[in-house]
Amino acid sequence: MYSQGLIGAQTETGEDEAFLERFQARIDAEEKIEPTDDMPEGYRRTLIRQIGQHAHSEIVGMLPEGNWITRAPTLKRKAALLAKVQDEGGHGLYLYSAAETLGVSREQMTEELLAGKAKYSSIFNYPTLTWADIGAIGWLVDGAAIMNQIPLCRCSYGPYSRAMIRVCKEESFHQRQGYEIMMTLARGSSEQKEMAQDALNRWWWPSLMMFGPHDTDSVHGDQSMRWKIKRFSNDELRQRFVNATVPQAEFIGLEIPDPDLKWNEEKQGYDFGPIDWDEFWRVVRGNGPMNRERIAARRKAHEEGAWVREAANAHAAKRKARAEASRIAAE
Ligand SMILES: [Fe+2]
Ligand SMILES: [Fe+2]
Repeated sequence: MYSQGLIGAQTETGEDEAFLERFQARIDAEEKIEPTDDMPEGYRRTLIRQIGQHAHSEIVGMLPEGNWITRAPTLKRKAALLAKVQDEGGHGLYLYSAAETLGVSREQMTEELLAGKAKYSSIFNYPTLTWADIGAIGWLVDGAAIMNQIPLCRCSYGPYSRAMIRVCKEESFHQRQGYEIMMTLARGSSEQKEMAQDALNRWWWPSLMMFGPHDTDSVHGDQSMRWKIKRFSNDELRQRFVNATVPQAEFIGLEIPDPDLKWNEEKQGYDFGPIDWDEFWRVVRGNGPMNRERIAARRKAHEEGAWVREAANAHAAKRKARAEASRIAAE
């Protein structure tokens, strides 16, 4: 309906067709879009949603593992876990900052999270029952995060793509520390090996769900690919993850809990069984095993941190007043 050659034809959002074409041409030429550039409203909204959800996932993701810091089996394990959980907090902060460049405030995003309105990765709504879960999370959850995030280093939006470069370096340490925990347990006593297998059994399917619905059911997929926010589809990334992870499980003698898992010579990848999408949607909609606890824990941490925010604001106000006073004195 806009292709009648009319100059200045408008789309539904009131954006000029020529503007959208120019924007798409920049994307196609692999130019980075920066915060002060003009961009379609849909592009801005998609990024705010995606970066916001990503930031929340980092922050909520600190909870299941934070739960084990005081119970880590050795000082070395404790130091590694502490560093990892702090990294996740840092990832959240970069990402909130990246989202803020698009005109949304961190306070607003935090409020939405605490009100239970914002989405975050549903993997963090599962409980961490044993120490082996810390291994499984690092290996599988951070492993899946890397698959998702490496292509985001080439995302068309400059601040997001640059944040991802450092984030990915840290994720790779997270994945290795998790895998190394699993390797140690798998080579330990029979109880330890069983504990590792049990953690793999519980985390495998939720990890596959981290890539989101199948491409045929994915709402935002095509447009995000055209805008080069996404570079690969959900199913492509999931397949890569399975292909990379199965040999790692074999190497440490653990079994992937999927009777349908089979190497497919033709596609040079593994075929795997059906994902329980009812479970996925149940957890996404707030009814997973730990949804309520996670938000309650975030609210508590937010309330307990109020004095830090007040002190930081009071300090900033004092500095501003001092700078103002010395500016006046200098005049
Ligand atoms: Fe992270
Ligand atoms: Fe991580």
